[in-house]
Amino acid sequence: MAPYRLLPFLLLLLLSSSTAFQSSSYTPHRSLILVQQQPLILRYHNGPLLKGNLTLHILWYGKFTPSQRAAISDFIVSLSPSSKLPPPSAASWWATTAAYPGGAAVISIGHEILDTSYSLGRSLTTASLRRLARRAAGGPIKNAIAAVFTSADVAVDGFCMSSCGVHGAARNSGVKFPYLWVGNAAVQCPGQCAWPYALPEYGPPGAAPLVAPSGDVGVEGIVINLATLIAGVVTNPYGRGYFQGPAAAPLEAVTACTGIFGSGAYPGYPGKVLVDTKSGASYNARGVNGREYLLPAMWDPKTFNCATLV
Ligand SMILES: *[C@@H]1O[C@H](CO)[C@@H](O)[C@H](O)[C@H]1NC(C)=O
Repeated sequence: MAPYRLLPFLLLLLLSSSTAFQSSSYTPHRSLILVQQQPLILRYHNGPLLKGNLTLHILWYGKFTPSQRAAISDFIVSLSPSSKLPPPSAASWWATTAAYPGGAAVISIGHEILDTSYSLGRSLTTASLRRLARRAAGGPIKNAIAAVFTSADVAVDGFCMSSCGVHGAARNSGVKFPYLWVGNAAVQCPGQCAWPYALPEYGPPGAAPLVAPSGDVGVEGIVINLATLIAGVVTNPYGRGYFQGPAAAPLEAVTACTGIFGSGAYPGYPGKVLVDTKSGASYNARGVNGREYLLPAMWDPKTFNCATLV
């Protein structure tokens, strides 16, 4: 289907590129764009969106510590309105997806599988990702999403070259289901996939990265990319939902707003964020268990703008 690349740092170069996986091959697509003009229009392509109660089944591939898994799982839990946090919160961020026709999507975590033995090795292809997605799903699933997370020591085709994660569709016993994959970029390319908690390799000299709330840059990068992809999954699960541009290299709910985390953002500057006075960490959304997350702007179909939390 239509997986995506998420490289905010490329905005520094005023360059955007997208990667599309078609069957087992992918074609990098590059195009020159300037900072998005407002209003920004994502077209609806007459296909299904995901709405209602959805279950996210997770496969953790490789080495994830319990605290890493907790930070990421807490983000998913935080999306739910039942987290009852005052805005700006992960739930208030997610509420923008309900502005897309059909109402709200409420995500809860289903089963979790730990693959600590790297069953498919430490170098994965697109085909192995789909295999892992099927294993994460555990069988034909409806109203559910399979999520695969790979640890920092796992190489994945295209990872850090053209993508930080992808979403697409796979089948189990003929039943199509959406999946997403996000890699931990802490070692391989933090500047690409964990910006602005890590500096781009070719960033401006003397700049300092933002302080990560969890202290784990890889985890914060996973949350940013998971947020991006899960918004893409519910608003464009099978390539016929909301996006701008060609279906093979779409700009979706969050990728259309790449590099924007707060008001006043410009290429290389994430925009206004909040700073935790105790830890010095930057964030823009509260989560359960006292978590703080930095969540990317999302296109709001009601205002035709990239909505920011602060
Ligand atoms: C979602 O689940 C909640 C709680 O189990 C239930 O009250 C609600 O009706 C469900 N919504 C849909 C759209 O199925």
